[in-house]
Amino acid sequence: MEPLLVLCGVLSIHSLLLQPVQGLVATFTTNHTLNKLAVDPVSGMIYVGATNQLYQLDSGLKLNDTDVTGPVMDNPSCLSVVNTSASTCEVGSKAELTKLTDNVNKILAVDKRNGQLITCGSIYQGGCEVRRLGDITTFKQYRKNEKFRIAANNATMSTVAFVALGASDPETDVLYVATTYTGNSIETQALRKNIPAVSSRQLVGRNTLDYAFQDDITGKSTKIYWNIEYRKTHIVDYVTGFSTGNFSYFMTVQQADTRTDSYVSKIIQICHSDRDYTSYVEMPLTCGDYNLLQAATVVETPGSTLQVTGAVVIATFSQSEPNSKVPTSRSAICVYTLSDIRQNFIDNLKHCYNGQGDYGKQFESEACTRRVSILSGTTYAISSETTCTLVF
Ligand SMILES: *[C@@H]1O[C@H](CO)[C@@H](O)[C@H](O)[C@H]1NC(C)=O
Ligand SMILES: *[C@@H]1O[C@H](CO)[C@@H](O)[C@H](O)[C@H]1NC(C)=O
Ligand SMILES: *[C@@H]1O[C@H](CO)[C@@H](O)[C@H](O)[C@H]1NC(C)=O
Ligand SMILES: *[C@@H]1O[C@H](CO)[C@@H](O)[C@H](O)[C@H]1NC(C)=O
Ligand SMILES: *[C@@H]1O[C@H](CO)[C@@H](O)[C@H](O)[C@H]1NC(C)=O
Repeated sequence: MEPLLVLCGVLSIHSLLLQPVQGLVATFTTNHTLNKLAVDPVSGMIYVGATNQLYQLDSGLKLNDTDVTGPVMDNPSCLSVVNTSASTCEVGSKAELTKLTDNVNKILAVDKRNGQLITCGSIYQGGCEVRRLGDITTFKQYRKNEKFRIAANNATMSTVAFVALGASDPETDVLYVATTYTGNSIETQALRKNIPAVSSRQLVGRNTLDYAFQDDITGKSTKIYWNIEYRKTHIVDYVTGFSTGNFSYFMTVQQADTRTDSYVSKIIQICHSDRDYTSYVEMPLTCGDYNLLQAATVVETPGSTLQVTGAVVIATFSQSEPNSKVPTSRSAICVYTLSDIRQNFIDNLKHCYNGQGDYGKQFESEACTRRVSILSGTTYAISSETTCTLVF
């Protein structure tokens, strides 16, 4: 995927900071490391996920409510049920020592339709709470079951989540989640191997935080796994995610393929209407030699200067040190039109459904297979760039 516009150079931000910005209206200070931020567009209330703390601030950044989330007795190898007063936990047939562990906020997502705030931390295998918007100390815990291991159980590994429309009903919002694989030891591999790389999950009802769609007979479900063989060595950093139109997107940094140390940035697209993640596609996102995505945002009305119609994705990139994902100061900004991104995805999917190309070793089936409908004899396709319906 080539950009529409590139702006590059060594962006030396420091030299531009000659004078502090004027018109500062509010500040909030804390001694807890801040991890995530979310705003309720209805009330204007600001939620901040910090290490061991959650904050609810009014739109003037005045502290309105707070909740202590850590540290707790835990160990990343523990099963999710930890007896908080005990100093050991069960790990298979043996006991593992627990120690006071910081709870780094990993997911902070406003579900405005249901008046909820979804919070997940690095403790208890990435378990979650569903809180009440405007009243964060009222919550229900989702920890006890394997299906609630949602976020990365590690302070530094990435997790990206947001609320958008889902597959089971066109008017139902779900939680889209992408989580870096953290099963690097024998014990944690057993705990983390059933956690999908990307999934979408229900926000209400008896099966809250379970998969948005799951059919036990056909095995169809709103999730995708990586090939177990490559999960440990091919680490994906999820940088950001967003939803626009009938699609959700995640943006990542990962190895170019499973054999190299060179890194590329990739964008992932999923159709909202897709109950089986058959529409899941990854595509490299290039910005000249600037290979490491640092941040990105979607702008729905980009203004007239760019002379494009429709939304654009604006992304910042840095060039990496050779064979590493450590960024240098050489940086660039690239702009892509969303309609180009979608068209490229559809072209790639069509090729794959025709049996051309491959998924890459990291996925469970390597080669693209020709998919032909038994009924019509035609190849599967996404019929339209905007509606995202899968045609059989
Ligand atoms: C942070 O810690 C410092 C030093 O202990 C203390 O003076 C300050 O009041 C603390 N700030 C907040 C917001 O708690
Ligand atoms: C928090 O915000 C609510 C709603 O605006 C308000 O009624 C309440 O008084 C605030 N509480 C504090 C402690 O500021
Ligand atoms: C938790 O551990 C403590 C200390 O070992 C023990 O007294 C208590 O019964 C345990 N609680 C549960 C629910 O197992
Ligand atoms: C988090 O993962 C990294 C990379 O695998 C590892 O080096 C680090 O020890 C982990 N942190 C914890 C707290 O387990
Ligand atoms: C989403 O898909 C529906 C049909 O399923 C279509 O009517 C609508 O225009 C699409 N939305 C966008 C923003 O393209």
